[in-house]
Amino acid sequence: MSKRVRKAVFPAGGLGTRFLPATKVIPKEMLALVDKPIIQYGVEEAIASGIEHIIIVTGRGKGAMEDHFDISYELDATLEKKGKKELLELSRNISSLARISYVRQKEPLGLGHAVLCAKDLVGDEPFAVLLPDDVIDAQVPCIKQMIDVFNEKGGSVLATMTIEGAAISAYGVLAGSQDSANPRIYNCTGMVEKPKLEDAPSKQAIIGRYVLTPAVFELLERTTPGAGGEIQLTDGILALLKHEKVFGYTFEGKRFDAGDKFGMLQATVEFALKRNDLGPKFRDYLKGLAL
Ligand code: G1P
Repeated sequence: MSKRVRKAVFPAGGLGTRFLPATKVIPKEMLALVDKPIIQYGVEEAIASGIEHIIIVTGRGKGAMEDHFDISYELDATLEKKGKKELLELSRNISSLARISYVRQKEPLGLGHAVLCAKDLVGDEPFAVLLPDDVIDAQVPCIKQMIDVFNEKGGSVLATMTIEGAAISAYGVLAGSQDSANPRIYNCTGMVEKPKLEDAPSKQAIIGRYVLTPAVFELLERTTPGAGGEIQLTDGILALLKHEKVFGYTFEGKRFDAGDKFGMLQATVEFALKRNDLGPKFRDYLKGLAL
């Protein structure tokens, strides 16, 4: 068994109902944040973290993702003929980004089930999971930070963030305590998916980045539907906690929920402002708005 984290799973079979009507036909993972589909941010993060093999769990109507990461002969030939070198390079780079495999989740049975669909492609080695909705802007890629923690601690690592108030009910929430040696690490003793505010064991919410040991697959196979009637990844990891150590990790960086309309607006403003080509013009525009 390889101990190195070489593979990353991207669950992308969901319906994207939070972003209707835009996602009626277009997969939510293909919604553009400035000028790039949100899933490409995650794929680039994984590659920058040393991941060699991307596994995308797709579903019905999600074919646009496969086309996006494939070679587009017509587009490339046209750009070449017109001498548009920079755009041609942009298009070609996307198709040569990574080795990507696709597996279909036939029914939307939950995040745990989606990850389980990647079992055969992952095999018996630790792996990363990136939820494409969660776009994370960080100096050191978030999943790289977590792979480093995994290598040091030797147990599964879940990204976490402090969430105040009732909003906690939209997340998986950890129970446990802060590590005395490293305040970014949380030693898990339990976790619960989408608790009511009064039942939340802490303010430590799980964010869509995980580094997991392959033992979780067998446990997911035995996981019964939980919150929302879905097979939850959180429940599979809770079962893993009976056999192995699991850590929360407060990552360095800023997370945007780009699967949500408001989160996408926030991400759009912040990512656009950071761009050399758009930032100055956009800043002037925003300053000129009578807010
Ligand atoms: C999923 C997970 C949840 C986690 C969240 C992070 O929920 O089930 O534990 O906190 O992602 O974004 P979803 O947002 O798919 O409902």
